[in-house]
Amino acid sequence: MSFRTIEWRDNKVIMIDQTKLPGEEVYNEYTDFTGVAEAIRGMIVRGAPAIGVAAAMGVALGARDIIADTFDSFYRQLENVCDVLGRTRPTAVNLFWALERMKKVAQQHKELDLNSIREILKAEAISIEQDDLKICKEIGKHGGALVKEGASILTHCNAGGLATAGYGTALGVIRAAHEAGKGIKVFADETRPWLQGARLTAWELMKDSIPVTLITDNMAGWLMRTGQIDFVVVGADRIAANGDTANKIGTYSVAVLAKENRIPFYVAAPISTLDLKLASGDDIPIEERASTEVTHIQGVRIAPEGVKVRNPAFDVTPARYITGIITEKGVIRGDYEKELRALVGL
Ligand code: MRU
Repeated sequence: MSFRTIEWRDNKVIMIDQTKLPGEEVYNEYTDFTGVAEAIRGMIVRGAPAIGVAAAMGVALGARDIIADTFDSFYRQLENVCDVLGRTRPTAVNLFWALERMKKVAQQHKELDLNSIREILKAEAISIEQDDLKICKEIGKHGGALVKEGASILTHCNAGGLATAGYGTALGVIRAAHEAGKGIKVFADETRPWLQGARLTAWELMKDSIPVTLITDNMAGWLMRTGQIDFVVVGADRIAANGDTANKIGTYSVAVLAKENRIPFYVAAPISTLDLKLASGDDIPIEERASTEVTHIQGVRIAPEGVKVRNPAFDVTPARYITGIITEKGVIRGDYEKELRALVGL
């Protein structure tokens, strides 16, 4: 891929600034965990797996700057770093998964000196990033096999290289099908209000010469009804034990339309997106974002001053609309409750 979403370089975290795409390709440098927390909150980095990688790297930066004489004092401060990072965005579980993994690693090495623990945390953050890339390729391999020659694929939001350490989940499936020479083409929903589809998905697919056509969100139903979509694949921010899946607002509508039109609707996500503690999607916290994202486009007001606004950033697609969930360990279908537990060895 011709861009890097996030990397650890010279003891700094480097991230492509996704708020500036597609106009400018700018890379920001972060030297402390509060900067990384602000970057997550401000959507400089976004997309569930990429948020997880950023959080882990934020913990590594935070650990480096902790002043402590004992492990207990170090760990208390590390927990504070994790709390600050954890308060940035509520829906993508990969954020909390990464923070828990970093805390666990610190605990597992509590007998070592603090500098060794700092180094281990840095190595862990880098390995979360490198593992994510491998995981996305596996998702691509399993999902790409489901795509037929010449398929017309619809995706919503951005679940690509920009939303992960690279390659992508939903776009990983698309990339794998493209690389296999299947002659696919992609329709990208623009994804109001933040326009991840228009600004990010279209940008990264065009960069990789994957045929993409941009549509507004309200066009998807008509394209399905008129036989122009063969396959739908989206990412996920959190998957509950029964398979209900939170993803970008609008995903639910796409899933219902896909079922109505008998089009397969797949979710592609790493196992780190599973939250089997939650019985169903009703328990998934849904982020509500600023009203200006709805009243303004690119800083220009499009709605009357003072109008009431709702801006839930995610919705939950009930499992019954999902044809299958594509993970790095394979594709699961049917009884999600049973299959998801089996996937993680429960
Ligand atoms: O608000 P965002 O841009 O972080 O939301 C991103 C999405 O909803 C993606 O579809 C999801 O995180 C899957 S990313 C591989």
